[in-house]
Amino acid sequence: MSRLVVVSNRVSMPTERGAKAGGLAVALAEAMTPGSLWFGWSGKRGATSSDQATVIDHGGLTYATVDLSESDYRRFYVGFSNGSLWPLLHYRTGLLDFKRDDYEGYLTVNDLFADRLVPLLRPDDTIWIHDYQLLTMADALRRRGVKNRIGFFLHIPFVPPAVLHVLPSAAVLVRALAAADLVGFQTHGDRMNFLESVASCMDVHPDDNHSFTHNGHRTETIVAPIGIDADGFARTARRAAGMAETKRLIESLVGRALAIGVDRLDYTKGLPQRFDAFGQLLHRHPEHLRRISLLQIAARSREDVDRYQSLRRELDRKAGDINGAYSDFDWTPLRYMTRTVNRNTIAGFYRLARIALVTPLRDGMNLVAKEFIAAQDSSDPGVLVLSRFAGAAEEMTEALIVNPYDADAVADAMHAALIMPLEERKARHAALLAKVRRTTAASFCRDFLARLKAIEIDA
Ligand code: G6P
Repeated sequence: MSRLVVVSNRVSMPTERGAKAGGLAVALAEAMTPGSLWFGWSGKRGATSSDQATVIDHGGLTYATVDLSESDYRRFYVGFSNGSLWPLLHYRTGLLDFKRDDYEGYLTVNDLFADRLVPLLRPDDTIWIHDYQLLTMADALRRRGVKNRIGFFLHIPFVPPAVLHVLPSAAVLVRALAAADLVGFQTHGDRMNFLESVASCMDVHPDDNHSFTHNGHRTETIVAPIGIDADGFARTARRAAGMAETKRLIESLVGRALAIGVDRLDYTKGLPQRFDAFGQLLHRHPEHLRRISLLQIAARSREDVDRYQSLRRELDRKAGDINGAYSDFDWTPLRYMTRTVNRNTIAGFYRLARIALVTPLRDGMNLVAKEFIAAQDSSDPGVLVLSRFAGAAEEMTEALIVNPYDADAVADAMHAALIMPLEERKARHAALLAKVRRTTAASFCRDFLARLKAIEIDA
């Protein structure tokens, strides 16, 4: 049987599981059957980039990581990946901070990854590359003579050509992606945008199967929404009920309703808008004063990127404004923390919450929406308020769907959630839970890999 080689910028090392594992790492764990290799950045920066990968065998899996030099980290990770591609692919062209030097650093690191991976490859390996940091890696591997099956999955949105072309050299990136045999997206909208961009950059048009051929190489595409292990997460949430942190949270609420938001501290997540909406709820629906607390966990992220630093200052100020305006001597409406909280602990918090606010301005999928639903007690479930601009909204239509730019509408949705009768909460939750259990982390990996392995390649 062919070995699976997963390539992603972050590698979830076995020692880091639990506290640090993000959505991508958790989902990929499902694909990592014994014998698989996981390749990527070690997370370390040094004076120079490593000249070969560090290989560790653990629990039947092999982990191979490379260190980046400080200059590669700045240009590849801070500069191009997170200063250009991230805002661009989330439709935030105004935040684009393009520098040609960063772009060249990006290509260099994709090439470096390919150079370090090639010696570890076997002829029948199936290679699965992940996310926007590695758009040119499939092409870098092909230029080094790699003939293996290569799949690529984009975890974040893809934009229409008019937005894409704001980025200089966008066409190079689209052509490089076409070196993969299968390219996957979270939603139908993302795939359509990609195929329109292919037409615009390469003058190549897709067939009825959403596949296209360029220079004799055929590229297929797939829509494969990522999910979670819903039953496993539900168990974690039930178990968390007995944890000290859950008990402390319950005691601190003294019977008040809990609204919860859990995000990386990122401008795509709509956090200032969410704080405004919460302020509007308290202003326009004063019956909820002293009756609700919003716990917003916004884990600090990408702190070397300027825009993340200014966002943090903005949120500190807004949180202060809301609490200054509405707090009482024994009630704080907004509890705002920028620390990372362990995923198991958060599972218990979700189960307690009456409302989850998942209101990104744009998001590839958003697994918090799915985790919140999986964590609920189905006899008394909380209500999900979900942005129409999260990939999750394509499936999770029984949530209260909102436009996150409309603070009044989000405040009204929170109000509706707080007064929603039990029967309606149960009906919405049951419908959502069925969907969350259908599209799981395992089904995501299975669907993508089955499609990739079915592709005929000329060896
Ligand atoms: C998103 C991206 C991932 C990324 C993660 C954390 O989920 O899709 O590729 O790893 O954010 O961001 P970071 O920059 O810390 O890796």
